[in-house]
Amino acid sequence: MMICCIQTLLLLGAQLALSIPNNFFYHNFRKGNGNKEIHFSGVKLHVDSAQPAVFAATGDNVTLPCRFWYEPELTSPREPRRGHETDVVAIGSRICLLVRGRVQIRQDFPGDATLVMTNLMLNDTGRYHCEVVDGLEDKSTSVYLELRGVVFPYQHPRGHYHLSFLAAQQACEQQASTLATFSQLFQSWKEGLNWCNAGWLADGTVQYPMTRPRVPCGGDGLAPGVRSYGRRHLQLHRYDVFCFSSTLQGKVYYRQPSHTMNLTEAQQACQEDGAQVAKVGQLYAAWKLSVLDRCDAGWLADGSVRYPITRPRRNCGPSEPGVRSFGFPPPQHKHGVYCYKSGDELM
Ligand SMILES: *[C@@H]1O[C@H](CO)[C@@H](O)[C@H](O)[C@H]1NC(C)=O
Ligand SMILES: *[C@@H]1O[C@H](CO)[C@@H](O)[C@H](O)[C@H]1NC(C)=O
Ligand SMILES: *[C@@H]1O[C@H](CO)[C@@H](O)[C@H](O)[C@H]1NC(C)=O
Repeated sequence: MMICCIQTLLLLGAQLALSIPNNFFYHNFRKGNGNKEIHFSGVKLHVDSAQPAVFAATGDNVTLPCRFWYEPELTSPREPRRGHETDVVAIGSRICLLVRGRVQIRQDFPGDATLVMTNLMLNDTGRYHCEVVDGLEDKSTSVYLELRGVVFPYQHPRGHYHLSFLAAQQACEQQASTLATFSQLFQSWKEGLNWCNAGWLADGTVQYPMTRPRVPCGGDGLAPGVRSYGRRHLQLHRYDVFCFSSTLQGKVYYRQPSHTMNLTEAQQACQEDGAQVAKVGQLYAAWKLSVLDRCDAGWLADGSVRYPITRPRRNCGPSEPGVRSFGFPPPQHKHGVYCYKSGDELM
């Protein structure tokens, strides 16, 4: 299986792998052995998916439907090869992970080539192409796998525009999230995300979502939309980042302090509960997916201070719902804290 990874990467080169980071291909090979007649007898191969898109959450098991058939029907149906893991070939940077055990091709009936994935991860989002190869014929269809979640803008503690692409990727991972894809950002823009600072996306482009154009954000003459700076230099250029975070397996809560705490004391307070200081991605997921609403500023793991508001009200920030941020105060400042307790520890 490792060989498959290496071969495919060599074939495509890092460039292409990067330009389609969220495209996955899997093949159901039905290698031609004496079946050339098919190409000369007017028999056509068809491939179709019953669903153009599948929605899921992290930790879920999903099936991405795909089936193929011939028209006219074959008089002597050919035995499909039994599916096993080596039939799954994914092109792009994720091959190795995909092939290692979490993915299988289901073959419940002749012509079934449904992909079954278990224990979805944040970065499994993307378009999956099901390609059926039979002799010279080669047909494909695709299914978009979308994880329910939330996109949030993130900046380095030292301020705006400090992150290279790699640093942006690490920043998201450290905050329990992954780099957002363009379609995730676009979806968030449709839901009202309005952000004036440009951030990296998973495909190496830099963009920002604008619902209310105004002068400091590219001018008020422009239409609302997701504005793109295009592909930027991955090492040299520095921006903020858009991260994506999904369903929590645990719980985020505000710890009511007997006294307000500096960052060290906040860490100890969560530890006393058998929990940890919540990461930014966890707070956003709790706000968006578990409707956490709390008008108290609290420390988070990255040293920032924020609070989640789903029902905007007086003295709790702007009139739209959102996670409010006080930036990164000095660690000796005193605040409450948001802790995160994982699913295992809750039981
Ligand atoms: C997913 O499938 C695995 C193995 O088939 C199973 O152990 C697990 O409980 C399933 N998870 C969910 C969320 O259904
Ligand atoms: C996807 O996420 C997993 C778990 O966080 C991580 O180990 C893996 O490296 C990520 N893969 C890619 C291609 O980013
Ligand atoms: C927080 O306060 C404790 C005393 O309660 C002190 O020992 C510690 O150095 C302080 N930490 C920071 C980051 O200011």
